[in-house]
Amino acid sequence: MFKALLLEEADGKQSASVKNLTTADLPEGEVLVKVQYSSLNYKDGLAVTGLGKIIRSFPMVPGIDLVGTVEESSDSRYQPGMAVVLTGWGVGEQYWGGFSQYARLKADWLVPLPEGMTAVRSMEVGTAGLTAMLCVLALEEGGVKPESGPVVVSGAAGGVGSIAVLLLARLGYQVAAITGRPETADYLKKLGATEIVTRESMAEPSRPLEKQRWAGAVDTVGDTILARIIAETNYGGTVTACGLAASFKLPATVMPFILRNVRLQGVDSVSCPYERRCQAWQRLQALLPEDMAADVTNLIGLEQVPDYAQRIVQGQVRGRVVVDLQR
Ligand SMILES: NC(=O)c1ccc[n+]([C@@H]2O[C@H](COP(=O)([O-])OP(=O)(O)OC[C@H]3O[C@@H](n4cnc5c(N)ncnc54)[C@H](OP(=O)(O)O)[C@@H]3O)[C@@H](O)[C@H]2O)c1
Repeated sequence: MFKALLLEEADGKQSASVKNLTTADLPEGEVLVKVQYSSLNYKDGLAVTGLGKIIRSFPMVPGIDLVGTVEESSDSRYQPGMAVVLTGWGVGEQYWGGFSQYARLKADWLVPLPEGMTAVRSMEVGTAGLTAMLCVLALEEGGVKPESGPVVVSGAAGGVGSIAVLLLARLGYQVAAITGRPETADYLKKLGATEIVTRESMAEPSRPLEKQRWAGAVDTVGDTILARIIAETNYGGTVTACGLAASFKLPATVMPFILRNVRLQGVDSVSCPYERRCQAWQRLQALLPEDMAADVTNLIGLEQVPDYAQRIVQGQVRGRVVVDLQR
């Protein structure tokens, strides 16, 4: 018997509760993993609370991230005892996920835990950190250098935002952090932000072109904030868009693209190819400071997931939430 958070639906109402399961209850897959940690992302918040149409078939074990050790494997790439990480691929949405002490998974979804990285660190990173790293890689590929000028990060006190601020600061960029929570200013400065920008000042609808302020951007929120960032981006700058914490809308014009050569680069971590994932994980391992956890991480047990799911969708979580499955 092992514990898992199970989402069920009855009379059109969704419920979430910790249940006892056996490995016979798990879906098919090539690799059985004993899960050590998972993490709670914004998408998990939407799934567990039912506020977003993330889950389409029930019962479902949510949790889009996990790290653990291989127990059984019919795939030659993975042997019992190997440490593996999973993020994305629809796990925790269409396939049973990481809020469970055991998971049975497709071998193609896994990556080996990067050498030198601890299991708990990989979930401090999780989908949020992987996405932040993919945004930073896209900025580098767009030619944005530390000397190009400030890079702005929206939703800065959230999971993706916090790690983006930290990574950019470690790489020597000046980082402007947009936040709706002024009380997180000290936290963001500790992560390396050089400027705090209020959410209100950025949420004002913008003109097609505004005064140029940013060499690059990591946007996690969408809507008028993303539109304003694009309108304020320097000639030749790159804006990466990975999130919709405000909304999926983008009330922008083409003017920054055709008059300022601005590049808008979408970033997806869910179906990111294996080679790119490994590249991003290696960079994360090289860049993130040893002592990141003390600032960024909230460590919780499985029973606390529904409560934290409410908090994350209400924008009340600072940094990352790691779920300890062996507690
Ligand atoms: N493309 C991908 O593969 C991918 C991967 C991971 C996440 N995402 C997306 O990225 C976004 C962030 O994910 P996360 O896990 O970092 O979530 P999170 O921890 O909840 O952070 C989101 C942050 O956005 C800000 N925010 C919340 N509501 C807002 C609003 N109405 N208007 C403006 N800002 C608002 C808040 O930051 P402040 O308090 O600092 O203002 C909040 O902390 C989500 O939309 C998620 O779905 C996409």
